[in-house]
Amino acid sequence: MTTTVRVELGARAYDVMIGAGLIGQAGRHIAPLLHRPRVAVLTDENVAKAQLETLRAGLQDAGIDMVSLALPAGEGTKGWPQFTRAVEWLLAQKIERRDVVIALGGGVIGDLAGFAAAVLRRGVRFVQIPTSLLAQVDSSVGGKTGINAPQGKNLIGAFHQPSLVLADITALETLPGREFLSGYGEVVKYGLLGDDAFFTWLEENGPALAAGDVDLRIEAVRRSVQAKADIVARDETEQGDRALLNLGHTFCHALESATGYSDRLLHGEGVAIGCGLAFEVSARLGLCPQEDPSRVRAHLKSMGMKTDLADIPGDLPDADTLIDLMGQDKKVMDGKINFIMARRIGQAFVTDDVPVTVLQTVLGDALRGRA
Ligand code: GLY
Repeated sequence: MTTTVRVELGARAYDVMIGAGLIGQAGRHIAPLLHRPRVAVLTDENVAKAQLETLRAGLQDAGIDMVSLALPAGEGTKGWPQFTRAVEWLLAQKIERRDVVIALGGGVIGDLAGFAAAVLRRGVRFVQIPTSLLAQVDSSVGGKTGINAPQGKNLIGAFHQPSLVLADITALETLPGREFLSGYGEVVKYGLLGDDAFFTWLEENGPALAAGDVDLRIEAVRRSVQAKADIVARDETEQGDRALLNLGHTFCHALESATGYSDRLLHGEGVAIGCGLAFEVSARLGLCPQEDPSRVRAHLKSMGMKTDLADIPGDLPDADTLIDLMGQDKKVMDGKINFIMARRIGQAFVTDDVPVTVLQTVLGDALRGRA
């Protein structure tokens, strides 16, 4: 079964196709975009081993030739040196203005390849083929592209929408369990921020989809992508509603910074813990029902996910240091930190009115293992 979500952005609208086996059928879906039967693929060395030959065969079925460059796997790739290498390689391959670049991989490759496409010859089209759950439900959709700077993550980039996204659920089969659950942190986020029925569905179906049920995985990715597509269509460049997608992220960015962006904490793990903290703060402020934070954390725990600060290995800094790190988040506006708080599960909103004393209490309790 293949299902399609349309991202409604006028002249830049595109389809996100979600299904099993799409990499092997890529040629048929990409052919209508091409002026000549040749594409350039950017990927990483791990994904290349698992998926590149399937993609090559899928393109060949439609008579499309492919050249490819595999960059080292990992967040370290998302900086100027590998970006320069990718852009210069695309030029050496004589990729023209009307050609299409393909990003085959997780969030690092999608962000880097999308940014390379945004600047190559002042902009060429690109297709996202996300191979991690996190990339399928978040980073491949919505057009945020870029690389990291020494000053922080994702500080150099452009909005550049893909022309097509092929989310092949089969690719998730080779994903390590921890990576899958990290991506699931972003899936849960969509239920928590805007769709309580989806959160209830995840409470019922999360364990089976984590165990590998393909239809449930397709449905979870579809509902997540639909939620993101609706928000991006309303607010492409994050002037308002798109900030809701950052539920849990201000806490997450502070925790990622405190753990040195190491494998002590994967991004989606930080998002999951951050969502729990956002609900805890919302409850302490009397904004949401007192039972909601426990329900959020109960679901994360039932999935075997990192839920509490105590689940992060090693030492963490104190509450005030974590709050300082939140102040360095790029979502800070006019010196005020924007938080995503909740009125209840499925109803998040943006506010800069969160007293520091409440953050200190919630984080202090969490660090002592009490929240
Ligand atoms: N990952 C958040 C966004 O795309 O806006």
